[in-house]
Amino acid sequence: MSRALRVAQGSDREKTAERLLNSSADKFYDPEVDIDWNAPLQDGMYYAPDHRISLYGTELWDQLTPGQRIELGKHEVASIASNGIWFEVLLMQMLLKEVYRIDPTTRHAQYALTEIADECRHSTMFARAIEKVGAPAYGPPPILHKLGRLLPVIGYGPALYGSILIAEEILDRIQRESMADEKVQPLVRMVNRIHVLEEARHVTFARQEVVRGMANLRKWELPYQRLLISIVAFAITRSLINPRVYQAVGLDPKHAAEVALKNPHHQETLRWSGERIMKFLDEAGLVGAPGTRWWKASFLLP
Ligand SMILES: [Fe+2]
Ligand SMILES: [Fe+2]
Repeated sequence: MSRALRVAQGSDREKTAERLLNSSADKFYDPEVDIDWNAPLQDGMYYAPDHRISLYGTELWDQLTPGQRIELGKHEVASIASNGIWFEVLLMQMLLKEVYRIDPTTRHAQYALTEIADECRHSTMFARAIEKVGAPAYGPPPILHKLGRLLPVIGYGPALYGSILIAEEILDRIQRESMADEKVQPLVRMVNRIHVLEEARHVTFARQEVVRGMANLRKWELPYQRLLISIVAFAITRSLINPRVYQAVGLDPKHAAEVALKNPHHQETLRWSGERIMKFLDEAGLVGAPGTRWWKASFLLP
């Protein structure tokens, strides 16, 4: 790439960071004070829309009472939130590494610090919400929890920012729908609303980094980048619903998880949740061989 192009990209990067910093100063939430944590949960209200629950439409679903369906929804929401914390903690590590490397007087570094501060508040908010609804902080399955440690070490470039985007945009789609649903618990809707509003900036930031990273990529790096992001996408979609959630309604976790994985409704939910980000990643050139098998297994690609 020519020096002139690099300078132009650098100044675009600073401009975006400046705009995002202004927006962050203007609009942000403090969940400690903006959420009424003492308000009681509403009896009979949902935690997630029925059609987004992993067993919806299966025979196992038909056997559940209305109360059990609400209970399963609660545990699935808690599982997703606890995995949200997992992703955010990894993301904070990656952003801190970026800040360690670069000039802290750049707007880019300052925005990265601001995003870390946002994610700190989000993870605390998710943790409190899980505690409030009375579910365990399931997190990812143990093997993925171990492998997750590798990501900040082996990840770099557009695949890394692309991976962050997958987690952020999948969550965004699920939370947007839920925050607009009047049958969902007010606490859950408020948590989702706060997260959606603040994540919009993170998405802008990461998308720009993907585009920039792809332009700077050397040809031989592309297969690694494509493979890495497809494996992370697989890990993200597989971790969202921890099989232990099914125990909360008396189902065998292994069997129920198998049923959910084969459930066309659940597969469609995953595809729908990734629809927007997949279009972007595909256009950026990050979707393709040698990662195709992983994308398909993640249900993000048909
Ligand atoms: Fe977040
Ligand atoms: Fe984020």
